[in-house]
Amino acid sequence: MSTQPVPTMKAVVRNSFGPPRVLEISVVDRPVPDDDQVLVRVRTASLNRADWYAMAGRPLLGRPMMGLRRPKSNRLGTDYAGVIEAVGKNVTGFRPGDEVFGGRDGALAEYVCVRHDRAIVHKPPNATFEQAAAVPVAALSALQGLRDRGGIQPGQKVLIHGASGGVGTFAVQIAKAFGAEVTAVCGPRGIEAARSGGADHVIDYTRDDFTRGDDRFDIVLDVAGTRSWRHLRRVLAPRAIVVGVGGPKDNRLTGPMSHMLGLRLGAMFSRRRAVFFIAKFNKADMETLRDLLADGRIAPVIDRRFGLEEAVAAFDYMGDGHPQGKVVLVIGRE
Ligand SMILES: NC(=O)c1ccc[n+]([C@@H]2O[C@H](COP(=O)([O-])OP(=O)(O)OC[C@H]3O[C@@H](n4cnc5c(N)ncnc54)[C@H](OP(=O)(O)O)[C@@H]3O)[C@@H](O)[C@H]2O)c1
Repeated sequence: MSTQPVPTMKAVVRNSFGPPRVLEISVVDRPVPDDDQVLVRVRTASLNRADWYAMAGRPLLGRPMMGLRRPKSNRLGTDYAGVIEAVGKNVTGFRPGDEVFGGRDGALAEYVCVRHDRAIVHKPPNATFEQAAAVPVAALSALQGLRDRGGIQPGQKVLIHGASGGVGTFAVQIAKAFGAEVTAVCGPRGIEAARSGGADHVIDYTRDDFTRGDDRFDIVLDVAGTRSWRHLRRVLAPRAIVVGVGGPKDNRLTGPMSHMLGLRLGAMFSRRRAVFFIAKFNKADMETLRDLLADGRIAPVIDRRFGLEEAVAAFDYMGDGHPQGKVVLVIGRE
């Protein structure tokens, strides 16, 4: 009696926390979709700072969730775009051959299985797999930060602090899509992308200190997290809100949390508010992002592409903290 070989795939794996060199490309079992899942052949994945934290096992405060001594999961990644290869018998709305994108743990692999009712949507035909894979975590964070936490309204003055990276490039475009007047703060290499993303004003933080300017903002989306409440409050309108998205990763124990806490404490005795949030995947928001991508209101900025075998170099590049837009891993081609 002959037994069928178990289908396999390549995936980025690691068995310990540490720098990018802990990553390996291994051959692992290919996942098998259950009745409610689709099997996606990944064409492109994109990297987020969260993947870097998961690789490094930082901040240390997160270790109870990630694994105290070694990672609970040996897989990495979230954002993917690809083609559906198989569907479970309860799946509606997707068929083999459909081009899709979304978020799923372990996306740095040739295949992922995803529940059909989760954060997976059809890729617009006008978007490439690279563009679609760039969207999920970064654009979702910008959308939920500006709309749900910031309550963005047309005509408001919005400042994006850290406008040139993964989240920031989407935040500029999404704030414009909501009809805001947008000021982008970024380094010199991001100025052009901020302008073409629609920013009304661009401030190069290496030349000018935006907290010394005369403008007052209704919303500050704080992606970079390099300025304290004492500085940010100078540019806040009377009922403004600072939406904290991220912060420097240097603090091994707390990561960006110490900056967030500083903002919250600073705002405690002020009429201005500071909030922090963690973006959450849901289908409705992925559909919103798909529509924005389809009609060109968001155009992902891709800084660099790497192959799956170059995962170590890709994480090294992203870890430096100054990608201009998104870093993608090209995993499969037809
Ligand atoms: N809360 C959430 O749900 C959520 C979701 C996604 C990401 N995040 C967090 O958000 C942060 C940014 O993520 P990302 O993917 O956009 O990272 P990224 O691609 O590395 O972008 C970082 C941005 O910060 C800017 N920056 C660095 N130093 C700066 C300084 N001194 N002054 C002003 N800007 C500075 C960079 O500009 P230059 O390159 O021009 O220096 C760049 O625009 C990270 O901390 C990440 O963990 C949080």
